[in-house]
Amino acid sequence: MDTQLLAGKVALVTGGSSGIGFGTAKRLMEEGAFVYITGRRKEVLEQAAAKLGSRVKAVQADSSKKEDMLRLANIIKEDNGGLDIIFANAGGGKAIPFEEATEADYRRTFDVNVWGTYLTVQTLLPILRDGASIILNASITAYMGLPGFGLYAATKTAVRSFARSWTTDLKSRGIRVNAVSPGVIPTEGYEVVQGMSAADVQAYADRVSSEIPLGRVGTSEELGDAVVFLASDLSKYITGIELTVDGGMTQVYAGKN
Ligand SMILES: NC(=O)c1ccc[n+]([C@@H]2O[C@H](COP(=O)([O-])OP(=O)(O)OC[C@H]3O[C@@H](n4cnc5c(N)ncnc54)[C@H](OP(=O)(O)O)[C@@H]3O)[C@@H](O)[C@H]2O)c1
Repeated sequence: MDTQLLAGKVALVTGGSSGIGFGTAKRLMEEGAFVYITGRRKEVLEQAAAKLGSRVKAVQADSSKKEDMLRLANIIKEDNGGLDIIFANAGGGKAIPFEEATEADYRRTFDVNVWGTYLTVQTLLPILRDGASIILNASITAYMGLPGFGLYAATKTAVRSFARSWTTDLKSRGIRVNAVSPGVIPTEGYEVVQGMSAADVQAYADRVSSEIPLGRVGTSEELGDAVVFLASDLSKYITGIELTVDGGMTQVYAGKN
């Protein structure tokens, strides 16, 4: 008996070259899926694919560009005929003081997190097989009201909302749509996008751990475990939800140690 949860499945992880996307691509592969990963930076993408091994294909693509997503859909169709799992993960954003945010900040954040998520799923739909599973990457910041995260949090509220609407839009095809909401998962993005030093990241992780019931920050592979669950038949009666993966941070008041 095959004990892998996703044997024979074809998956796409946008933004799979780094952080949560990379950790999730690894977990999907370990469960038997063939995985396509995307990203904008070619070198980082190729290095990630080399680390992941032979059951992965890297396609340089910007999630917010229609021509890139169409090219990606054509490649997957030619290779495999269709797609079973989408993890729309590409995105990010940083804290910008409310008074200082510009139109360019607004457009950049909404372009990738909202439009990129919308465009990814919309463009890949024709090759998505009936009964497929779509997982969107939201964020706990959407309901935390953190200082400086107004733009970013608003994009993630939109992402969470997409999971509800698309559940209805796609129900006739048996396609399930769910969101995951990561808590604090230190990734390359903390340094590359947020501009934190490695020491800053460690200090932040240590400080915030006292507010997390499980006493520590999470890993990209642990987020990947949640995606594997939502991608597999283990969750076949679950759709439209947001699964929070934050060590309990936003579910209970943990207090300070
Ligand atoms: N880490 C956390 O604590 C946390 C918490 C909540 C939610 N999240 C969400 O989780 C997702 C991944 O974050 P992360 O922490 O893993 O960040 P990361 O390490 O910076 O990884 C982001 C990935 O997305 C790719 N990407 C960014 N913009 C893209 C675009 N327009 N088109 C295609 N690929 C793009 C990046 O590659 P290129 O730059 O080369 O394109 C990279 O592969 C994001 O949606 C983020 O908002 C993260």
